[in-house]
Amino acid sequence: MKKVYIETYGCQMNVNDTEVVFSILGKAGYGRTEDMSEADVIMANTCSIRDNAEQRIRGRIDQFAGQKKARPGVIVGILGCMAERLKDALLESGKVDLVAGPDAYRSLPALIEAAGDGHPQINVELSREETYGDISPVRLDMNGVSAFISIMRGCNNVCSYCVVPYTRGAERSRDCHSIVREACDCIAKGYREVTLLGQNVDSYMYEGVNFAKLLAMVAELSPSLRVRFSTSHPKDISDELIHTMARYGNVCRHIHLPVQSGNDRILEKMRRRYNREWYLERVAKIRSVMPDCGITTDAIVGFCSETEEEFRDTLSIFSEVGYDSAFMFNYSERPGTLASRNYPDDIPQEVKTRRLEELIALQNRLSLESNRRDIGKEFQVLVEGPSKKNAAELCGRTGSNKMCVWPDITHHAGDYVRVKVLDCTQATLICKLV
Ligand code: 5AD
Ligand code: SF4
Repeated sequence: MKKVYIETYGCQMNVNDTEVVFSILGKAGYGRTEDMSEADVIMANTCSIRDNAEQRIRGRIDQFAGQKKARPGVIVGILGCMAERLKDALLESGKVDLVAGPDAYRSLPALIEAAGDGHPQINVELSREETYGDISPVRLDMNGVSAFISIMRGCNNVCSYCVVPYTRGAERSRDCHSIVREACDCIAKGYREVTLLGQNVDSYMYEGVNFAKLLAMVAELSPSLRVRFSTSHPKDISDELIHTMARYGNVCRHIHLPVQSGNDRILEKMRRRYNREWYLERVAKIRSVMPDCGITTDAIVGFCSETEEEFRDTLSIFSEVGYDSAFMFNYSERPGTLASRNYPDDIPQEVKTRRLEELIALQNRLSLESNRRDIGKEFQVLVEGPSKKNAAELCGRTGSNKMCVWPDITHHAGDYVRVKVLDCTQATLICKLV
């Protein structure tokens, strides 16, 4: 049996895509290995979101090429967003035998077969229909507690900085029945948590079923199945969704709501199609319905022409919302996007870096404050496994997605436990069992 090794970069959606790829290859008779040196096929499922992500992967491709030299016959493949963005340019380097975009994974067995004869293969066709809805992903998480379920693919928003609509194509929603079937299958296999994934879950729509209805369908399958989702778009998150979350105790109280910037001119230039006031109103709505809901975000600093004052608006919206945590990035120009065509990438690197440091320092304080507010409170936590630092402690997340650790030698991954928060760091709630 030929063995396949895949390294996955980028978002949760990519992790789930790798699971789909293993399922497709498994049916075609390929085995899986976690040891690159024994693999017949070595692949990277790649990310193009920022230049530094691509640079890191390029370094890995060079190492894969080293394997190929040492063991002639090994096939090196590039999947995912970089495959879609760079297409045949990846083959021209001579380091790669196979290039497959995000909608081309069903053709992988044929591509691998053909590439075996020393003929480089490429399929980067994007589809309007492909959702891999009928494929049961081979779950890769080791503890068997939490599974990703993709509910849609692609993106139609075309934010001016973002490469995703070009690498993942047009938005399409997966058949809601196949999503429910997959969630049932996860329950039957002992999973305790599913995360419904899409670039913009709020625009999910399949034969009259919108995202709020889909969420209710999945939440109703079992009260002991936790349901999470990601990512919401501030322009589309509806009152119906917020009320649906509130109605189900097993839908986790956590919304990842990327703000990107706190300044109206920059938001307009990013083509986000909401303004600061609208965003703050959505946050107020979430908090009025679910006061205990965790809210996290993404932000970009140093976008084209961003002034110091405009950057201050991002700092101030962070303080105003008081995020529980955030992912923060320097703007990275992506070839082909609206921003790269229309606006110069004119904020000097050192200014971007200084702004990013300032924003991260602020968020670190906000995360600590948010965690301090939880001291003395009790939470239901889903056990993920031993804590990284101490084998006599377990770790797991609250519904609001905060990491907890507590001394415990009786429970196991997949158990629900109640803990009380005694202390905290900026990243972790330090708890005891109750
Ligand atoms: N430069 C920097 N960050 C970006 N993101 C998306 N595109 C870019 C870019 N060109 C960030 C956004 C998004 C997250 C997944 O990555 O904040 O929400
Ligand atoms: Fe990276 Fe975006 Fe592609 Fe995910 S969709 S792999 S974050 S470029």
